[in-house]
Amino acid sequence: AGSGKFFVGGNWKCNGTKDSITKLVSDLNSTKLETDVDVVVSPPFVYLDQVTASLTGRIEVSAQNSWIGKGGAFTGEISVEQLKDIGCKWVILGHSERRHIIGEDDQFIGKKAAYALNEGLGVIACIGELLEEREAGKTFDVCFQQLKAFADVVPSWDNIVIAYEPVWAIGTGKVATPQQAQEVHVAVRDWLKKNVSEEVASKTRIIYGGSVNGSNCAELAKQEDIDGFLVGGASLKGPEFATIVNSVT
Ligand code: G3P
Repeated sequence: AGSGKFFVGGNWKCNGTKDSITKLVSDLNSTKLETDVDVVVSPPFVYLDQVTASLTGRIEVSAQNSWIGKGGAFTGEISVEQLKDIGCKWVILGHSERRHIIGEDDQFIGKKAAYALNEGLGVIACIGELLEEREAGKTFDVCFQQLKAFADVVPSWDNIVIAYEPVWAIGTGKVATPQQAQEVHVAVRDWLKKNVSEEVASKTRIIYGGSVNGSNCAELAKQEDIDGFLVGGASLKGPEFATIVNSVT
């Protein structure tokens, strides 16, 4: 892992029921988590309040999306103000499912990030290339372009965690090798150094997401520039998620 505090997020995506989430929260509350790791879980909006109210303070809660500005006449959207009102501390923005399935573009994502950060929410800013982009040798170009869209608008980097999630590794069981992930992480850090500042490059956590599980996390965590994980499927199982959180040692 890198120099920042290890950060592990669980992105529950559009999964769960009241019952399954009650069980997951109770598993998380009773599990032993390394103290030196920031842990965040991201339930679907409808369960955010339930989870925030029932999780111990050890784990912070993130939303999976937020509106680009102040709330109002925006049917179906959830505002940053509302997220803060229920005790949410983070929001995941730029996730590939929102980019490629819902059609959000860099500019829209950037606006959301700027607004959330200005209002005091932490942002888990996701970037990552498609398989065809990797095969065409465009991995760095794509990641840097997505990164630049954040860098162009964010007020500061104090509250941002970058999640590198190669799209071909998400939900496929095809995890990036530790070397493949490290290669992009170090390039992202270098980009920050050149385009933002040396300080931001060294303190910003760059976490990896894409088929992370209890068996592959330890090898990935050993890489110098992997500062944590954003976990999808395996975060729906309390004990396995705890294994991933504790893989930092
Ligand atoms: O945000 C986490 C993510 O996209 C990875 O999902 O299921 O491959 O761990 P998964």
